[in-house]
Amino acid sequence: MLAGKERLGVGLIGTGFMGRAHSNAFRQVGQFFQSPYRLELAAVCSRSADKAAAFAENWGYATHETDWRRMIERADIDIIDIASPNDTHAEIAIAAAKAGKMVLCEKPLGRNTAESRAMTEAVETAGVANMVWYNYRRAPAVTLAKQLIADGGLGRIFHYRAKFLQDWTISPDVPQGGTATWRLDAEVAGSGVTGDLLAHSVDLALWLNGGIDEVSAATETFIKERVHSLTGARTEVKIDDASLVIARFANGALGNFEATRYARGHKALHTFEINGERGSIAWDLHNLHLLEFFDHGDKSGLRGWRTLHITDSDHPYMKNWWVPGLQIGYEHTFIHQVADFLAGLGGSLGGPSEVPTFREALATDLVTEAVLNSAAERRWTKVAAA
Ligand SMILES: NC(=O)c1ccc[n+]([C@@H]2O[C@H](COP(=O)([O-])OP(=O)(O)OC[C@H]3O[C@@H](n4cnc5c(N)ncnc54)[C@H](O)[C@@H]3O)[C@@H](O)[C@H]2O)c1
Repeated sequence: MLAGKERLGVGLIGTGFMGRAHSNAFRQVGQFFQSPYRLELAAVCSRSADKAAAFAENWGYATHETDWRRMIERADIDIIDIASPNDTHAEIAIAAAKAGKMVLCEKPLGRNTAESRAMTEAVETAGVANMVWYNYRRAPAVTLAKQLIADGGLGRIFHYRAKFLQDWTISPDVPQGGTATWRLDAEVAGSGVTGDLLAHSVDLALWLNGGIDEVSAATETFIKERVHSLTGARTEVKIDDASLVIARFANGALGNFEATRYARGHKALHTFEINGERGSIAWDLHNLHLLEFFDHGDKSGLRGWRTLHITDSDHPYMKNWWVPGLQIGYEHTFIHQVADFLAGLGGSLGGPSEVPTFREALATDLVTEAVLNSAAERRWTKVAAA
């Protein structure tokens, strides 16, 4: 079976939303993308043995563990994949890097930039391949946007505007903390929507339009106290519920960003629009296979926004899928990310990765930290260098 391919054992930590998305990607990537590597689902880790065993059976992991430290000790595991809440990322990633494992980590990298920096230094000192799951870069329409900008199709960029809107925490009865609502507990999550949702918009912005020099932001916590799931006590809410940002990019463009969990009616409205001298583009996660494009070079009188259906074989990633006209979805962004990670290994273990590295994710966390500081201090704030 798959003779000649180098085996890479995967150890997944976390069996929730992202554990499922990553497992699906690990299982499918080898069928659709050629690589000198063969991923083997060696082990999955959850604190509950029953959950871990059921997950292993459902997704095809050979074994299961209840302590992530055991995964790091195992010689049959080459890649540690961290899909557990934010407060676990730093300790696991640093231990995995020291043990010489490749490390894949969910975003945000750390709960704060001290953690993110320590994690980045750990993987770089150990010289291990590393990747952070900023998967939206790998929607084919977003990758095409990147190519269009790099080719000068938009000319000089003036404006970058982005939103990530949800509505699931509006009720004061939603608790904070615990298994289901750890995102509302600052101890576990680090921050609120700024690290959770805005981070995705910032990652795309840095990738598509380059560095951000400074930000001015306002954040709000609309519901000040919630019951804590673990203690049952009403406790102060320390995360930000909404985050509004204006930004100056190094290339002179102005940016504005909005992230909230209080936009009634919106579940995951993740969008960007970029306006340049020669044209504009817009993308929306709800229609992730479409890219809106306005080309000022079109013949006068026939100019207008056009909708590109990103399903042709010459569109990014699409030759690996179905026939032109048939679209793909959310889960494919994760499959593409694994395919790019394997391609970035360059045929030898431990080689450089071409996907979002820990250092790139640190750059995003430095922007989100500047956002939180700016909002707290009510002033423009410089973004530190990664
Ligand atoms: N890339 C994206 O678009 C995206 C989307 C959602 C979440 N995330 C990130 O992924 C991570 C996980 O989020 P989620 O939505 O999957 O959360 P989740 O609550 O659905 O799942 C978290 C899992 O981690 C397990 N876990 C917690 N502590 C553990 C420990 N010490 N050892 C082993 N397992 C442990 C939990 O039991 C659960 O199975 C977070 O960092 C989050 O920010 C990223």
